[in-house]
Amino acid sequence: MTPSQDRYNNALGIRSVLSTESLSADQVRKILDTAFFFKKNRRSKSFKNTVEGKTIVLFFFEASTRTRVSFELAAKRLGATTVFLGNEGSSAGKGETLYDTARTLQAMEPDVIVLRHPSAGSPNFLNQVLHVPVINAGDGFHEHPTQALLDAMTIEEFKGGIRGQKVLIVGDIAHSRVARSNIYLLKTMGAEVSVCGPPTLLPPRVENMGVKVFYDLDKAVKDQDVIILLRIQFERFEAGQTPSRGEYLRFWGMTSRVADLCKPEVLVMHPGPMNRGVELSTEVADGPRSVILNQVSNGVDVRMAVLHLLTGGEVLGGGQPK
Ligand code: NCD
Repeated sequence: MTPSQDRYNNALGIRSVLSTESLSADQVRKILDTAFFFKKNRRSKSFKNTVEGKTIVLFFFEASTRTRVSFELAAKRLGATTVFLGNEGSSAGKGETLYDTARTLQAMEPDVIVLRHPSAGSPNFLNQVLHVPVINAGDGFHEHPTQALLDAMTIEEFKGGIRGQKVLIVGDIAHSRVARSNIYLLKTMGAEVSVCGPPTLLPPRVENMGVKVFYDLDKAVKDQDVIILLRIQFERFEAGQTPSRGEYLRFWGMTSRVADLCKPEVLVMHPGPMNRGVELSTEVADGPRSVILNQVSNGVDVRMAVLHLLTGGEVLGGGQPK
């Protein structure tokens, strides 16, 4: 346990959700059970609502559609007030440091801070200097824990569990906080994780993370239960490094031809935003194996669960998934 994740008096025993690397199987189970409860009982009043009346600051220093709207909806469905602060329009754009902006915000007494930031480790830094719960909504190349939690929820919903599932993550693993968070969480929950992509887009020594590595997509997809496609993070490349979109689809993209090599019941997932015609073809994105919109919908339930548990709510649901 890192110093920033020290014991805290709530059902998860932690003040903040900063990474999946530091979440135990028991903590993940509690979050997923509670998320499935919210999914089934969207309007239930049969639990003590610890989020109602609270103030949640959404501090987004990088572009976001899904994650931002999803946190906002989750907070509002539980009766909280949200305050949005982006890079533009805030004093961060005038050169104020993250430390000073955060301390200023804290002085206004928010109950939770949700942070998306281009620098890896910035949520851990906020967690050290502030005393409110911090939720990492994506920090640079590092982690995006609520995305991995919603992905795990979607796998559990469609496959009945995570243990023993064969999950392949395809594409730009090197720049992907989604890949990193998914690898940690899926392994903690007992899945068999593989990665596949162009060698230049795989991080050095990726096999040390306990994953199998493939360089040939046709071989990699065989026998997989779940395939997670990642967006090529064009904005994180140095000038001149960008791979050609057409070539990427030809060699690494999920087309109908590749889909035909998969198990018929394979799940196709993508965290979004997707580059249609690059990571996957339109037929696959909108096809019967795609659960991309189910991921988006589960994202709201997962974020409700995290907000509820961090603010002292009890674990809801439990037992069987779904
Ligand atoms: C991801 C992100 O921002 O990390 N998107 C998301 O949150 N759903 C992935 C991406 O940008 O490719």
